[in-house]
Amino acid sequence: MTPRCDPCAESRKWIARFSLRSMTALYVSPLAAIQLTRAEIDAITKSIQQFQLGEGSKGQRLLDRGKIYGREVHDPFFAGALDLFIKEEQQHSRYLKAFMQSQGIPVVGRHWVDSIFRKLRGLAGLELSLTVLVTAEIIAMPYYRALRDATGSPVLKNICKRILEDETTHLRYQASMLARLASKRRCALDRAIVTLRRFFLSCTSVVVWSGHRAVFQAAGYDFARFRQEAFFEFDQMESCRKTVALAMDASRDHAERVPQIWKPNEENALKPRETSTQ
Ligand SMILES: [Fe+2]
Ligand SMILES: [Fe+2]
Repeated sequence: MTPRCDPCAESRKWIARFSLRSMTALYVSPLAAIQLTRAEIDAITKSIQQFQLGEGSKGQRLLDRGKIYGREVHDPFFAGALDLFIKEEQQHSRYLKAFMQSQGIPVVGRHWVDSIFRKLRGLAGLELSLTVLVTAEIIAMPYYRALRDATGSPVLKNICKRILEDETTHLRYQASMLARLASKRRCALDRAIVTLRRFFLSCTSVVVWSGHRAVFQAAGYDFARFRQEAFFEFDQMESCRKTVALAMDASRDHAERVPQIWKPNEENALKPRETSTQ
């Protein structure tokens, strides 16, 4: 019996969320704003340049893989949701760029950490691309909290607040995509992959701390707190992934029990109530 569960429901839900969110995008003026102090500029410049570059990725290979996967699972909306997600990331890059312009911080075209992340994303299939991406998203949570607190700029605080709200949604979105990709995987293999993801996050957190220490320290973070927050986000994302996987299994089981030809008893349903006539 062919399952009746809708393969597009999850993608449609995300298209609606991302579309609505795009309607409330911030406007950040690139013109002169309240200037940061010299110490604040020194603490954030290299770091914000790198994050602005990373957020602006076109994500073309990810999108191509999403189109292939969408065709495989008969979900024509999968790539559309992915496209809106990538556009939201690019919007983060534009927020940061406008703020940098207002502070006279130049934009950079290349950074070795960004290049490594892009290469890793290009190495294998959709799931590995998403694993690399989700690691960057997890790291982004403590990073933008630290950037928010590292300066006294109300504009930068507001940008970080907005990005943090978006990133929270992105982690849920990626948890849902990873749940779909791993839906038929055995438990033991799944546990091994989660362990590898934790190891990758652990290595990435060391690299990020060494490159962005100035921002974290300006916000009062030490490495232990940064790592603890990153792994908290990882555990939240994993828990969300398992919840979505269970919901998908339940929906599939239910769909398999529903009779293929559903015939509501329309005659009875439409029959007017008998009214007592006197
Ligand atoms: Fe982002
Ligand atoms: Fe994101």
